[in-house]
Amino acid sequence: MKTEVFRTASAEETRELAARLAAEAPDGTVMLLSGDLGAGKTCFAQGLARACGVAKSVTSPTFTLVNEYAGRVRRFAHMDLYRMAGGEAEAHDIGIDDYLEGFPGLVAIEWPAQAASLMPAGAWRIGLAAPEDGGASARIVTVARS
Ligand SMILES: Nc1ncnc2c1ncn2[C@@H]1O[C@H](COP(=O)(O)OP(=O)(O)OP(=O)(O)O)[C@@H](O)[C@H]1O
Ligand SMILES: [Mg+2]
Repeated sequence: MKTEVFRTASAEETRELAARLAAEAPDGTVMLLSGDLGAGKTCFAQGLARACGVAKSVTSPTFTLVNEYAGRVRRFAHMDLYRMAGGEAEAHDIGIDDYLEGFPGLVAIEWPAQAASLMPAGAWRIGLAAPEDGGASARIVTVARS
């Protein structure tokens, strides 16, 4: 496992960082986005979407737990498990398995701890946090991947 730590100074810098990382992620890569409410997980997902050539604006999936986009470059699946109350069983029901292995594109999952035991071992773990010393728009982004 290789862990890198980045510091971004704005939402746009977080999107750019995500887009750069997306370029290094082969199809089927699952990125687990962890961090408090408002840490910047959806912002990071927007950068991934941009790199995939998704023209639509990406917001958190609310009524559905998964949004799938056919980007010009490749497919992008964005999941937010925050509101999922039923744990792993519900995750299976919503068809999460189709995204966890062999998805022909990039997959990003917010709040992966809601179905922790299902997350693939090879997934990239992205942590977002506001640093104590920074202003409102600084974030520490930790990226762990094999
Ligand atoms: N460096 C930064 N990186 C990311 N977001 C930032 C940064 N600085 C400020 N922000 C702001 O923080 C907010 C992050 O919101 P976002 O929806 O991405 O969080 P989230 O982690 O997805 O929250 P939730 O758990 O509610 O889904 C946005 O309003 C964004 O503009
Ligand atoms: Mg979000």
